[in-house]
Amino acid sequence: MSRSPPSTAAATFNIWRADLMDGANFHLKEEIRDYWSKRSETFDLAFGHRIAPGPEADAWQRPIRAALGSQPKRVLELACGTGEVTRLIHDLGHEVTALDFSEAMLAVARKKHAGKPRLRFLLADAEQTMEPDGAYDAIVCRHLVWTLTQPEETLKEWFRLLRPGGRLVIFDGDWAKPKPSGQIARLLISLIDRFIGADQNYDGALSSRHSRIMEALPFGSGLRSEELTPLLSAAGFVAIQLQSHGPIARAQRKNANLRNKLRTLVYRRFILTCMRPWTPTHFPQRNPVDAVRPVLEPTSQPR
Ligand SMILES: C[S@@+](CC[C@H](N)C(=O)[O-])C[C@H]1O[C@@H](n2cnc3c(N)ncnc32)[C@H](O)[C@@H]1O
Repeated sequence: MSRSPPSTAAATFNIWRADLMDGANFHLKEEIRDYWSKRSETFDLAFGHRIAPGPEADAWQRPIRAALGSQPKRVLELACGTGEVTRLIHDLGHEVTALDFSEAMLAVARKKHAGKPRLRFLLADAEQTMEPDGAYDAIVCRHLVWTLTQPEETLKEWFRLLRPGGRLVIFDGDWAKPKPSGQIARLLISLIDRFIGADQNYDGALSSRHSRIMEALPFGSGLRSEELTPLLSAAGFVAIQLQSHGPIARAQRKNANLRNKLRTLVYRRFILTCMRPWTPTHFPQRNPVDAVRPVLEPTSQPR
């Protein structure tokens, strides 16, 4: 299937192939929700999703802390899944609304965080939350943007939800293709799989379904920070900063087995932070790509 850029894909995704899921006629979003609901039981067993306490948790928390500051904030976490990032935001002392559209994912997160103060769960669509204007000081999401069906409209929705001066923190990556240096890592992983058997909990478990969904998504051919930056700018965000995922990957490698160490090298990942401007007269930059202020480490570091 040929892929369209976000603007046209947004218009065409409603024309959904009835045969995407065998024997079912699902809307794309229903298909995505069903896929994640099926993944909910084993999601925390898959490397890269569960966040180990200690150095890995610290590494994920650092960019959140830097963007949100130390004062308690009203934070909306979009697509909270099983509540791994939820824990990190909550542990930083913020008031968290953790949203997901999969009841099964939310059930795991609710159980994990039962009885915690300053935390509410919300069953809702991250693309159309129905939450009030300016209700949040910050929005955080990990591994959601690549799966948006209407990215441009959704970024405007997130802009609407933030108060002036509010921050958006995005953790994501290009899951469609390995980076050139990642191809060797992927080859080695497939050799390990062949010798000791595939890891049933890893993302490959429902991989054919995953790839069929990917093909229909606006970012189906991969999500790069260079593509997302102009969309953020067009939605009105300013102070867009690109940060390296390298410190997180290095922390993950500390206690990982060889196969999982290799997994941290396959895909290009990134962290983007930005802000809703304080004043409505602060217009988006003319050339958003030039306006990005990178906070990158030397490129020789693995990401
Ligand atoms: C890759 S998982 C990431 C979960 C969590 N953010 C994490 O990093 O551990 C993707 C999650 O996004 C949720 N999701 C995808 N599209 C969504 C949407 N439009 N609205 C709400 N949740 C969505 C799925 O239900 C799933 O829980």
